[in-house]
Amino acid sequence: MSASLPGTSLVPLRVELSESASAENCIIRATRIRICILYNLGGKDMFKVNDNYLKLPGSYLFSTIGKKVRAYQAANPDKEIIRLGIGDVTQPLAPAIIDRLHEAVSEMGVQETFKGYAPDLGYEFLRSAIVKNDYNARGVDIAIDEVFVSDGAKCDSGNIQEIFSLDNKIAVCDPVYPVYVDSNVMAGRTGTYDATTGLWSDVIYMPCKEENGFAPELPEETPDIIYLCFPNNPTGATITKDQLQKWVDYANEKHAVIIYDAAYEAYISEPDVPHTIYECDGAKTCAIELRSFSKNAGFTGVRLGFTVVPKDLKCGDVSLNAMWARRHGTKFNGAPYIVQAAGDAVYSDEGKAQTKAQIAYYMNNAKVISQGLKDAGYTVSGGVNAPYIWLKTPDNMSSWDFFDYLLENANVVGTPGSGFGPSGEGYFRLTAFGTYENTVEAIERIKNL
Ligand SMILES: Cc1ncc(COP(=O)(O)O)c(C=O)c1O
Repeated sequence: MSASLPGTSLVPLRVELSESASAENCIIRATRIRICILYNLGGKDMFKVNDNYLKLPGSYLFSTIGKKVRAYQAANPDKEIIRLGIGDVTQPLAPAIIDRLHEAVSEMGVQETFKGYAPDLGYEFLRSAIVKNDYNARGVDIAIDEVFVSDGAKCDSGNIQEIFSLDNKIAVCDPVYPVYVDSNVMAGRTGTYDATTGLWSDVIYMPCKEENGFAPELPEETPDIIYLCFPNNPTGATITKDQLQKWVDYANEKHAVIIYDAAYEAYISEPDVPHTIYECDGAKTCAIELRSFSKNAGFTGVRLGFTVVPKDLKCGDVSLNAMWARRHGTKFNGAPYIVQAAGDAVYSDEGKAQTKAQIAYYMNNAKVISQGLKDAGYTVSGGVNAPYIWLKTPDNMSSWDFFDYLLENANVVGTPGSGFGPSGEGYFRLTAFGTYENTVEAIERIKNL
């Protein structure tokens, strides 16, 4: 089909019905058929975009929540809305961390202590503090050059897929932290999206429901890359060391790799829950671990994390540690010195005590939420080893109907479980990251419904 574009001299142009998209701003997405307008520029088609991005369904979850909350507030300006939806911390940075930040900033203004580019894999002082406190103290032997400091677990969890072939098949929990799936969609590893089921054709989903204690079962189809996140966002569930050992054995047997996201490790309170996957025998030959300073030390706005890639983790004779070092060295220029110095302060005696107190504060909120909801007759899980409470919506309400109901009748905002995947339908997430006063007030309101 041919047409001319009004108001432009770029004629003639061709309008094609095409499976492959051309320029982003030329794409009209109507009834899921892509219409690409290709300008005839002296025989050369316009540049092409990575059309895997165009396959992504809109991430409407938090923008829809925001829109609904703003509309409700505009219509009801006198109502005080309490937000327990977003997974961001509210307590300020601990004094030991602030002191170290100030000191490090001052160092940057003095010739003798000024620092330029940070080593791209991280300063040795921080990497050795990580090894000593997060691994050696738990009886796990990790070497300094197996730790890669970064600006957070979100980037690492999105980027890590780059070192794997596009032929690999991923397995994810359902519901899931969306970054794992979306980053694989962008890479072109997930097949096609079915809007009616909310599933990708080439992704193995492992439903996590009440029936299985929100713990994934070994999938029937064998994956190449398995994403696990414990303690879990969004369900707040976790698995025991024995359960995790089964995954490690399975991955080694099937020659699969586990990407283990332990961003919420600091919230573990029960003794049989592993703090690191490397507590399991054989994990060094099959697992990469992601960690964050966001939730254990309030670094969501400061930005710091790290990834462990053991040297024993190999594909044939190719070392994944060497590949990630190469990737990190090429695409990342190091987390700032002042931030790494602040990260080091998390491991000081004062830092440990102060961050522990903050976690206790949030976990007390979790208790208030869990107990309050149980008293009100809700079916609740999570909140014991994680700052997330996962509740079953009452009367088989859909997740979004319950969102509206809670917003309108209790003026409390949470997150609809269906936003994290189809198996989240009929569930709802509340976070313990609010202030104690707001948390108590929110639960009183829900109890009084
Ligand atoms: C499971 C999980 N992984 C990673 C992250 C991101 O962590 P960071 O702030 O270090 O990027 C989050 C943040 O909410 C998360 O829930």
